Amino acid sequence: MKIIGTGSAMPSLAVTNEMLSEILDTSDEWITTRTGIKQRRILSEDTLTALAVSASQRALESAGLIAQDLDYIVCSNVVNNFVTPSLSCILQGEIGAGCPSIDLNAACTGFIYALDIAESFIKTGRAENILVICAEQPSRMVNWKERNTCVLFGDGAAAVIVSKGDAFKGFHITTQSKIEPLYYQRKLEFNPYVSQADGDAPLIMNGKDVFKLAVSSSVSDIRNVLEKSKTTADDIKYFLLHQANIRIIESVRDFTKQPDEKFPHNIEKYGNTSSASIPILLDELHKANKLEKGDLLVFSAFGAGFTTGACVLEWTI
Ligand code: UT7
Repeated sequence: MKIIGTGSAMPSLAVTNEMLSEILDTSDEWITTRTGIKQRRILSEDTLTALAVSASQRALESAGLIAQDLDYIVCSNVVNNFVTPSLSCILQGEIGAGCPSIDLNAACTGFIYALDIAESFIKTGRAENILVICAEQPSRMVNWKERNTCVLFGDGAAAVIVSKGDAFKGFHITTQSKIEPLYYQRKLEFNPYVSQADGDAPLIMNGKDVFKLAVSSSVSDIRNVLEKSKTTADDIKYFLLHQANIRIIESVRDFTKQPDEKFPHNIEKYGNTSSASIPILLDELHKANKLEKGDLLVFSAFGAGFTTGACVLEWTI
């Protein structure tokens, strides 16, 4: 499998730390030093579907394909307005594709999980061109009065088109069933006198536990995929890590003993956009001509579950 196109789309509303300081007991200083985030984009007038459509169309254009060329759509998404049908079904119609589509929820690790599934379809000859799209709106899961969580997240969508090739050198994905550190629970109580559930509970997170799990799992996943692909950290041009906290990125960087410039980040502009964070960063690097044919890249992510994943690939565009 290889990546042949990228695209992303972000909501127009930027919410700065200063804006949050007006409604919460927080400050730009606290958020910046503890997380690296300066602002995040929040869906207000735009919809998640519209973002997903734009990101997908941009990825198709970048790949030089049309929607009818797609054989499969894999959409990583945690929440959207519809429980069913899936976001990928809605997207399939909106972009004019004719292929099957599925959603998957591996939380912030969704991009790596989606790529892993896409690779299986391509390897077995079941598909030639696949749209992998990550579309996320964590802003709808957090309690905007809860400063521990709401300052961290932002909305966004990004896509890649993958096709036949041998650019992916090694994958490693894991699940450890650990709910407590990070979860979002839907209210599904049975009550025959009420017509529908009256809202979900907000996202619950133990930041310190997630932080520790994030660093240890990312380090071990990266080691694993470097070994699998018979490469060393020195061979890697860029490590694209899930954009959750700049301190997590720096801790992983220290373990790999690699220079800071190998760890690009955009968390300062977008916050944590869940599974969309790595493909948004990838699209930015691609559009800024920072990727050259033959560059080796590592993707590494972690998320609720606890799920983790990493892969090594060669840039071939
Ligand atoms: O995709 C996965 C998503 N989640 C993550 O990646 C989260 C990983 N964890 C983290 O990023 C960090 O643990 C946080 C940024 C969430 C928190 O940083 P921390 O250094 O672990 O801070 P803390 O939770 O120990 O809080 C320190 C203090 C507390 O006050 P006290 O108890 O020391 O008086 C918090 O109440 O900072 C307080 N605090 C805040 N203060 C101002 C927590 N949030 C805020 C805030 N503004 N937004």
